[in-house]
Amino acid sequence: MKKIILTGDRPTGRLHLGHYVGSLRRRVELQNSGEFERIFIMIADAQALTDNADNPEKVRQNIIEVALDYLSCGLDPEKSTLFIQSQVPELCELAFYYMNLVTVQRLQRNPTVKAEIQMRGFSEQTVEGDTTQRQGIPVGFFTYPISQASDITAFKATTVPAGEDQEPMIEQTREIVHKFNSVYGPTLVEPEILLPDNAACMRLPGTDGKAKMSKSLGNCIYLSDTAEEVKKKVMGMYTDPDHLRVEDPGKVEGNTVFTYLDAFCRPGDLAEFLPEYASLDELKAHYRRGGLGDVKVKRLLIAVLNRTLDPIRERRRYFESRIDEVYKVLEAGSAAARATAAATLDEVRSAMRINYFADRELIEEQARAYAAKHER
Ligand code: TRP
Repeated sequence: MKKIILTGDRPTGRLHLGHYVGSLRRRVELQNSGEFERIFIMIADAQALTDNADNPEKVRQNIIEVALDYLSCGLDPEKSTLFIQSQVPELCELAFYYMNLVTVQRLQRNPTVKAEIQMRGFSEQTVEGDTTQRQGIPVGFFTYPISQASDITAFKATTVPAGEDQEPMIEQTREIVHKFNSVYGPTLVEPEILLPDNAACMRLPGTDGKAKMSKSLGNCIYLSDTAEEVKKKVMGMYTDPDHLRVEDPGKVEGNTVFTYLDAFCRPGDLAEFLPEYASLDELKAHYRRGGLGDVKVKRLLIAVLNRTLDPIRERRRYFESRIDEVYKVLEAGSAAARATAAATLDEVRSAMRINYFADRELIEEQARAYAAKHER
């Protein structure tokens, strides 16, 4: 079977290193592997609006940021179709049909939705007399896993490179596909998630050591940060709080600087930037023994990050002076994506037998039945 990728991001801010090691870097590798028949990369503006209804301007302004981040990481419009979700209305149509195949109870059990309801302060309960708690959960937000299932299946994606927070979405997509195919006949493809293969990449902590790099926590290093900003952020990074003097033995586990090195170091980096150590393992051993200062490790990290980010910055500068062209890329990508989604929708409508005008059998049978009635 031919392999197809679909994945994407909500345009609510610039992309950061967590996005990069969690999915972006992998996408570019997969793109260049030639293993995939088609690759669709979607800017999920409609999904972003499910919890930003009052802030459409934020979403609107960030489309270009995400597009610039994509292109600067090396996603190539010749090889990957970059598009904007809202410009493919077939996705809404498909989601509307899927809504009949999913229960409210099943949506309520989706762990990512549950966590986000908590995080966003959408409260299910109304505290008596407390008007601030009356916000409630928007229906569109509640049902976004269904919309995400239509994003994936409209392109018959086999593979979704994403972080582990997306696992419940893919699971729910598979259930919808299974249900659709068993009710209406084999039409859709069950996708698989492709997770990062290294624990450090699975969930990159923030520069403050918190579990996740997240815009709202202000602990991000952005792909578009300058070398100066990266240096400042790394120098301020959380390490081992018990490693007070250089001579003290230090902990590597849970030490954010080492977690980042695990996520970003490539063979050859030590030889280039810190040749007195043969490998990252040797550096870690020295840190554990004591006698290795944080600043030296941080300098290495800065060098490794800039080695990663320099070519990204260079491409970003190139595309930043061609904003018009970037929108043309998205427009062409959206048209191409729409054609693919429309073809799937044709199949879906005929499987569901709601393709009335192409359904000669239906029309002729009813014509015969009425003709017989009038002959009587
Ligand atoms: N939920 C993803 C995010 O929050 C964005 C997204 C929307 C997506 N549709 C998708 C990811 C389909 C993978 C596949 O970033």
